[in-house]
Amino acid sequence: MQKILPDTNPTQLNVWESLKRHFENINQISLKTHFENEPKRLDYTVIQWEDFYVDFSKNRLDKKGFDLLLQLAQEGNLKQAIEAQFSGEKINVTEDRAVLHSASRTLKNDPVLVEGENVLPNLEATLKKMNAFCDQVISGKWKGYTGKPITHIVNIGIGGSDLGPAMVVEALEHYKNHLEVRFVSNVEGDHHQEIMKDLDPETTLFVIVSKTFTTQETISNANSIRTWFLSQAPKEAITKHFVAVSTNTEKTAAFGISSENTFPMNDWVGGRFSLWSTVGLSICLAVGPKNFEQLLKGAGKMDAHFQDASFDQNIPVVLALISIWYNNFWNAESEAIIPYTQYLRNLPAYLQQGIMESNGKSIGRDGHRVNYQTGTIIWGASGTNAQHAFFQLIHQGTKLIPADFIGFKKSLYGNKDHQDKLLANFVAQTEALMNGKTRDQVNKELEASGLSPETQEKIAPFKVFEGNKPTNTLLIDSLTPASLGALIALYEHKIFVQGILWNIYSYDQWGVELGKQLANVVLEDIKGKGQHAHDKSTSALLKHIAD
Ligand code: F6P
Repeated sequence: MQKILPDTNPTQLNVWESLKRHFENINQISLKTHFENEPKRLDYTVIQWEDFYVDFSKNRLDKKGFDLLLQLAQEGNLKQAIEAQFSGEKINVTEDRAVLHSASRTLKNDPVLVEGENVLPNLEATLKKMNAFCDQVISGKWKGYTGKPITHIVNIGIGGSDLGPAMVVEALEHYKNHLEVRFVSNVEGDHHQEIMKDLDPETTLFVIVSKTFTTQETISNANSIRTWFLSQAPKEAITKHFVAVSTNTEKTAAFGISSENTFPMNDWVGGRFSLWSTVGLSICLAVGPKNFEQLLKGAGKMDAHFQDASFDQNIPVVLALISIWYNNFWNAESEAIIPYTQYLRNLPAYLQQGIMESNGKSIGRDGHRVNYQTGTIIWGASGTNAQHAFFQLIHQGTKLIPADFIGFKKSLYGNKDHQDKLLANFVAQTEALMNGKTRDQVNKELEASGLSPETQEKIAPFKVFEGNKPTNTLLIDSLTPASLGALIALYEHKIFVQGILWNIYSYDQWGVELGKQLANVVLEDIKGKGQHAHDKSTSALLKHIAD
């Protein structure tokens, strides 16, 4: 296999041993002590970039550890890898593809070459087509088959063809126009029925999004919806109500969608990184081309930051290195992402695909099984709701769970009182996680409680907080299309950095194939068209389904 990216087992690097030793030296040092030992700690643990204030000081790391992590990035040839990605080299080696989701949002004037061809003119033309289409639908100039304007959009897609657009449309609710945008993803008939419930075929536009146009869930849903539509509308009406986003224009044509209604995408845009491309059509319809452009611009700025900033000032690089520190040296099993805004309630679910489909790999770039931990498990929910759900475990459980706290200084509707309370919680939680509460503090509180000394003694241990729970704080001015674009791009680059340093391929997803293949086999059995051999458990299950 061609070696475009470095092939370096990180554990073979000298710096890995140094990091191990350093971990042994500092793992008993509390966060409070790190602050005492380093009076100028904030000088190297805060990055201010554009409207982002990123504070990574509340981590179980000191300057020496941070410098070693930066050395890991150097020794792992990260700089060359970043250049290889942005210059269109085929770094997705196992699929023989370039990785250029950044091309749709580039702010640089340099050509972006894939196999010698500048892809920017085509991307511009496609964006123009997309914008013109969205303008028509939003303005009501695009009419349905009975002459009525469109009121509802249904995005039919799954994985990257659903999660990104759905998350962004929800996140940008404040910037939305009158169109109601819904998402159907699951092959479950009930989901599709619920989404379709009160829809009027005369005023609904269906956007079928599938890079391959072969995904079982999407094609089943699209077929059922087309049947429903044709039970009420003539065949010619399809052109007014169905559009497609795909690389597979043969299949879109076979489905009955004209080339004017097909928005092409490129195979060098991975599904889970595709919301910037035509896959973002539903976003563009929901918030309009100007806001969509701002989303792209924000991401483009983050791309430039990632490419140009020195590693110690580079937000995606620093957050990736900290994540490696906990994953590989502290044996942390998972990371939490807590956005302090309801608009971003689905950011953790979106990032689960981005992070876990990309870095959930066990074969190194040398083709052998890795002998160290890779992909992090991501979970989370919006704060403050999460505080009343799972924060107990983060504060007092046995597991170390590094968490990213994402907050916005200003609310969008300007309700100061609520925003003050939200931000108070946002800040208080990271402080509490870091400092905890000692037995002495608990004793003092209990003394004032009027409880008997025996009861005080009994309950005191349960009220102690160990503290020392690490967090990163990402404080952004306000939630705008541009800041959202930058935030998403930040996590995309964090994924890339970790994949490079773990020596795995982040841009393929072979791990989803086996289940898909077997589902087709099992489907034949369920439909009575086949009788394949299965293990005893599976056979019994199938029998139970058939009964
Ligand atoms: O889950 C696997 C996957 O290939 C994702 O990577 C992708 O986002 C999703 O399926 C949907 O694929 P498609 O856009 O081709 O329908």
